Amino acid sequence: MNGNCYLHRPSSIGILACELYIPSIYVDQSSLEAYDNVSKGKYTIGLGQKRMALCSDHEDICSLCLTVLSRLLDETGVNPQEIGRLDVGTETLVDKAKSIKTVLMQLFVEHGNTAVEGVDNMNACYGGTAAIFNAIHWIESSFWDGRYAIVVMGDIAVYAKGNARPTGGAGACALLIGPNAPLVFEPGCRSTHMTNVYDFYKPNLSSPYPVVDGHLSVQCYTSALDTCYTQYCTKARTHIESHSGTVSTDEINLSTFIGIVFHTPYVKLTQKSLARLYLNDIVRNCSYLPSNVIEKYQYLGMCAGSDDKDLERELIQLSQELYEQKTLPGLYFSQNMGNMYTPSVYYSLFSFLSSKPDAEQLYGQRILLFSYGSGLASSMYSLVCQKVQESRFTLTQLQKSIRRARHILDHERTELAPDLIDKLLTEREKNDHKVPFVPSQPIEILKLGDIYLKSIDKNYRRFYEKFHADDTSMNKNKDIQQLYTQYFHDHQMNGST
Ligand code: ACO
Repeated sequence: MNGNCYLHRPSSIGILACELYIPSIYVDQSSLEAYDNVSKGKYTIGLGQKRMALCSDHEDICSLCLTVLSRLLDETGVNPQEIGRLDVGTETLVDKAKSIKTVLMQLFVEHGNTAVEGVDNMNACYGGTAAIFNAIHWIESSFWDGRYAIVVMGDIAVYAKGNARPTGGAGACALLIGPNAPLVFEPGCRSTHMTNVYDFYKPNLSSPYPVVDGHLSVQCYTSALDTCYTQYCTKARTHIESHSGTVSTDEINLSTFIGIVFHTPYVKLTQKSLARLYLNDIVRNCSYLPSNVIEKYQYLGMCAGSDDKDLERELIQLSQELYEQKTLPGLYFSQNMGNMYTPSVYYSLFSFLSSKPDAEQLYGQRILLFSYGSGLASSMYSLVCQKVQESRFTLTQLQKSIRRARHILDHERTELAPDLIDKLLTEREKNDHKVPFVPSQPIEILKLGDIYLKSIDKNYRRFYEKFHADDTSMNKNKDIQQLYTQYFHDHQMNGST
C-alpha cells in the first residue's frame, strides 16, 4: 500500500489475512463428564462439546495476543511500518488502565513505528467485533492515511467449578484489515441490539471468574438474535435493492447465505439459534419454505417462547439440513476448543471457510455473522467473499493460514486428565494478580516462536520472551502429561498447590 491511497476513497474493506492461536493443552469433555460426576452425554451431547482448550501459566492474554500478532506480521510479510491502526478486543483484563494494545506496541516500536492508533475494546464477547468496526471506520474516515489496520482479539475463558466450567476455552486471533479484501464487510448490512442486563459480568476484579446466570444469558442471546435478524433483513434488503446487488432483491432469508455463523459459547446453542432464525423465516412467510411448514407454525409468531422444548426440537429437526450446510462446518474450532469469548464468532467464520477447500465455491457468496457479548451488546452483519485482483491477500492464502491452525489443533496439542486440569485452574485462580510471579509449569508445552510470559515483577510489570526451544534444561522427549503430574506432585509436596 502506498501513502497516496488515502487520496482515493477505499472500497471493499475487510479481512485480508488472519492468524489463529491454538493453546497447547486440552481436556476431553467426556472425561470431564465422568470426573464431574454428571450424567454421561451432558457436555458432549447436551452442550455439543468435544474438547476444551486451556492455557498454562506461561500464557496470559498478552502472550496470546503478542504471539498471533507477531505471527501475522511474519507470515504476511507486512512491514510493521505499514500498520496505522491496531485495535484489541478482550474481556480478560490484566490491568484497569494500561491497555493490551500498549503491550503489543513493542512489536512496532522496535521497527520505529509509534504512529499506530487504537486501544482496547471491552464488552464481554463483543469486544472483538467492536474492535473490527473501529478499524473499518478508520479506513473509511478522513483520518485514514493509507496504511493497514490490525485487529487482535483473544480471551482465556475460565469459570468457577460448577455447571458453567465445561463452557470455558481459550483462543486469540489477529486479522489484517484493509481495502480490496477477499472477505468484505458488506456496507449497510449491519444491525445492532444493545440493552442493560446482568446475565454474565465480572464485578470481582480480583477473580478471573465471571458472575453468570447461565439460563438468563441464553435467553438474552436468543432475544438479541431475533431482534438483530429482523433488523438485519430490513436493512440489508433496503441496501441491496438500492445497490442492485447479486441476490434476489425481494427477500433476505437463510437461503441468502452460504454460511451462517454465531458467537459460540457451546455448539448446541448454535443449532438452536439456526432453528430460531428458521422460525423467523416461517413467521415472515419466506418463499423457500414448504407451505405445510408455514401453515403449521406461522400462527405462533415470534412470541413462541425459546423455553418451549417440544417446539424447539421440531424446529431443530426441520432446519437440520440448513444447519448441516451452513452452520456445522463453522464449528470445528469451537467444538474442539470451547468458548473463546471475543474471537469465538471469527473462529467459526474461519472454520467455515476452511471447510470449502475450493475458493471458487465461495466467490460472490455471503456469510452471515452474529456477535453477542453479555451485558449486553450484539450485532449481525454479513461478509462477501471476493476474488481479488492484483493482491497477495487472497481467499486461498487466508484458507492456508486456517489450515495451518487446524493442523496444530489436530496434531500438536496435549491432552491432560481432568484432575490435572482441576489443579491447573486452581493454581491459575491462586496466581491471578499475584506478584512477583515467575511461571513454573512445564515449559515444554510451548511451540517454537510463541511469545510467553517470562515474569511479573513486584511493580506488576510483565515481561515476555520468544520461545526458542534451546533451553537445555528442557525434558524434550518427555510426555507432557507426565511432566504435569510430576509438577503438581512436587507442588503438593512443598505445599504450594
Ligand atoms: N445427555 C444429553 N443431554 C443432556 C444430558 C445428557 N446426559 N444431561 C443434560 N443434557 C442437556 C439438557 O437437557 C440441556 O439441553 P437443553 O439446553 O436442550 O435444555 C443441556 O444438556 C444443558 O443442560 P442443563 O441442565 O441446562 O445445563 P446447566 O444448567 O448445567 O448449564 C449452561 C448449561 C447454563 C449453558 C452453563 O453451562 C453456563 O452457565 N454456561 C456459561 C454461560 C453461557 O455460555 N451462556 C451463553 C451465552 S453468553 C456467553 O457466551 C458467555
